[in-house]
Amino acid sequence: MTRILGIETSCDETAIGVVDDGRRILGHVLASSQEFHRPYGGVIPEIAARVHVEVIWQVLEAALAKANCSLDEIDAVAVTSGPGLPGALLIGVAFAKGLAMALDRPLLGVNHLTAHLYAGEMHQPDVSPPYIGLVISGGHTLLCVVHPGRHIEPLGETKDDAVGEAFDKVAKLLDLGYPGGPVIDRLSSEGRADAVPFPRHHTKGSFDFSFSGLKTAVYHHVRDTLAASRESPPAAASRHAAVADVAASFQEAAVDMVVVRALRACHRTGFRTIVVGGGVAANRRLRQRLAEEGDAKRLRVVIPPPALCVDNGAMIAGCAFEMLRRGSASPLDLPVEPNRPLGA
Ligand code: KG4
Ligand code: ZN
Repeated sequence: MTRILGIETSCDETAIGVVDDGRRILGHVLASSQEFHRPYGGVIPEIAARVHVEVIWQVLEAALAKANCSLDEIDAVAVTSGPGLPGALLIGVAFAKGLAMALDRPLLGVNHLTAHLYAGEMHQPDVSPPYIGLVISGGHTLLCVVHPGRHIEPLGETKDDAVGEAFDKVAKLLDLGYPGGPVIDRLSSEGRADAVPFPRHHTKGSFDFSFSGLKTAVYHHVRDTLAASRESPPAAASRHAAVADVAASFQEAAVDMVVVRALRACHRTGFRTIVVGGGVAANRRLRQRLAEEGDAKRLRVVIPPPALCVDNGAMIAGCAFEMLRRGSASPLDLPVEPNRPLGA
């Protein structure tokens, strides 16, 4: 049995998990600095890094308590070394190096994107490559084939905003606060998804994504309708209904672009399993549509529970198990790689 501690600090979550043999999650804990970024409507890298420093030791103690294990029982220390915010990554990597050195255990520098997909394999252990991988988060939107040996064949990625970023920016336009994904998800259930015909960007023959046109269309709609009505303010109830309609219509368009490409990737390549990871995979409408449309096409759609979709330490510990088995431990001078691509 191999017990790995996984540390994740690539963005605004300080997360640590303990996992046995890459599959059995003993415990994972997360502290978010979201409330400190809220006034700015997006993650402020300096603040994220400073909060990681302040809370990482407490998060470690809480994760060990939840896993009911001591540091002595840890066989290896894994940490996200990229991609992510440079300052934020540095905190986790420095902390992991200190632990690995003090405990005299191997250090493993994990790719955050590979780990997001690995979360699907932890969730359904009979799933293994090859499959279509879809990473949809605040920083990334990409589609790929994960071949055996975890060799990655990229199919497409976003040419502008990440899909989670589009959710966050639209929420900001609608004064819904930060992070926007969960709020839009909740509010959409009160609105009509066909209320506003927002554009979908679909390209024949390419799997690349683009969300800037959709975001601009929402901006124009809000300016021309919701903002105009501020001069003669409607009753609070009708404004709430109008905002819910915009949220639901935006969500439907964004989800549509993602679902269409994922299903087309299966059709084009012949692979019959899709594994989805990243914060936006927590979206209820996306989960519902992928499940229904995947089912209709007899595809297997694997989406972990929301706690394993968002950034977490368990997926880092899980992913590191395979690296350790392959003998790919990292040197103690492991660098951070803010632009590390999927598969590297
Ligand atoms: O994977 P993640 O926790 O961090 C990154 O690696 O970026 O993803 C965070 C992103 C944010 O943009 C957030 O708004 C979005 O995931 N998100 C959601 C939902 N929950 C989180 N987007 C849509 N619906 C949700 N339920
Ligand atoms: Zn992430």
